[in-house]
Amino acid sequence: MDSIVVTGGAELRGEIPIAGAKNACLTLMPATLLSDEPLTLTNAPRLSDIKTMTALLQSLGCEVTSMQDGRVLALSSHDINNHTADYDIVRKMRASILVLGPMLARDGHAIVSLPGGCAIGARPVDLHLRALEALGAELDLRDGYVHAKAPGGLKGGTVTFPLVSVGATENVLMAATLAKGTTVIENAAREPEIVDLADCLRRMGAQIDGDGTSTITVQGVDRLGGATHPVVTDRIELGTYMLAPAICGGEVECIGGRMDLVSAFCERLDAAGVNVEETDRGLKVSRRNGRVSAVDVETQPFPGFPTDLQAQMMALLCTADGTSTLHETIFENRFMHAPELIRMGARIDVQGGSATVTGVERLKGAPVMATDLRASVSLILAGLAAEGDTVVNRVYHLDRGYEHVEDKLGAVGAKIERVPER
Ligand code: UD1
Repeated sequence: MDSIVVTGGAELRGEIPIAGAKNACLTLMPATLLSDEPLTLTNAPRLSDIKTMTALLQSLGCEVTSMQDGRVLALSSHDINNHTADYDIVRKMRASILVLGPMLARDGHAIVSLPGGCAIGARPVDLHLRALEALGAELDLRDGYVHAKAPGGLKGGTVTFPLVSVGATENVLMAATLAKGTTVIENAAREPEIVDLADCLRRMGAQIDGDGTSTITVQGVDRLGGATHPVVTDRIELGTYMLAPAICGGEVECIGGRMDLVSAFCERLDAAGVNVEETDRGLKVSRRNGRVSAVDVETQPFPGFPTDLQAQMMALLCTADGTSTLHETIFENRFMHAPELIRMGARIDVQGGSATVTGVERLKGAPVMATDLRASVSLILAGLAAEGDTVVNRVYHLDRGYEHVEDKLGAVGAKIERVPER
């Protein structure tokens, strides 16, 4: 396994291209299961999670062809010959549960392994299952698998989520496109990835209204056709690279960045003393003064501050002037980066879902361990600002969500390299 070595202290200048969104692509790919005509996704990110979803779809009989060095994915579900998503693949990636709704909607049956826990909390799938039941699915949990049937096909219904879930909204939205009648999804997630999925489904012939709001209405159709769809910009990769010049100084333009994708995050950056300017090509970021100011952050479903940027924001606040508080409201165990940042000299006190960060002038490089995707990139960001070398071990998490992080940061002047683990 590789490590990333970062030598802190360099100012960053230049531009970083932002890729298509991992989380959008992971829900757009299973949408192929809704049609027997081809679906082509452009602007796809080149990530190991995409390879895992590819392997899962191929195990069901889908054809997935990666073109233009992985930027374009051509998918076809013409010949589905297996309706079981196996534990061996599902355990690697929770988003695998997203094949359940589409398979069930199209063929009336599916068996999908339960994903199990993960590092950032229990993360159950009960909301996905209750939502599909509201469309008439009959579910049976046996041997760690969900056995789902809808003998006469799914029927439109009202789904009221008790809490906002991105994945459950996506699963039921896909399923509802082929259900008989009208489905109303209340307390739906409003994330840009949901809007992107709805856009793609509309291109395939689905009738969907209200995506981007808390109430989505779907009028079921008999069949969906093929489509070509560009994957929306990755707002989490965008936010991550916006933090790099905020932490190190300099000025970086994130190409393809859009303010509407990261407005709550930009509001917090502004409060901390970081300028974000919209340009023709994206977002240009620089610090107003030498050191950023402490700010409080609370994660919320979109349009609030994203939980997937909380770890990276903490890296920034470790060297802010003053004391910041970060409240994590989405996942119960999402501060695993804190002990690693403390090894670099950060002053952080975690109490339940809150972390208090008292900024220090300078972090110090150290060997650290990445425990999840966003935690690993937060350690790289912290390393960029630290004195000396930071070695981030176990970077396979990083490769799940960031393509060529060392090339992108290296191109704007960061001293960063990938080495075999020491
Ligand atoms: C998605 C993103 C992930 C992001 C998260 C929140 C993908 C592939 N992943 O994950 O990067 O951190 O949204 O923005 O898009 N919950 C339940 N029961 C369920 C489902 C969820 O209790 O059936 C809980 C979760 O444990 C969590 C909360 O709901 O506390 C929100 O999770 P959810 O929005 O579903 O996250 P994911 O879709 O898994």
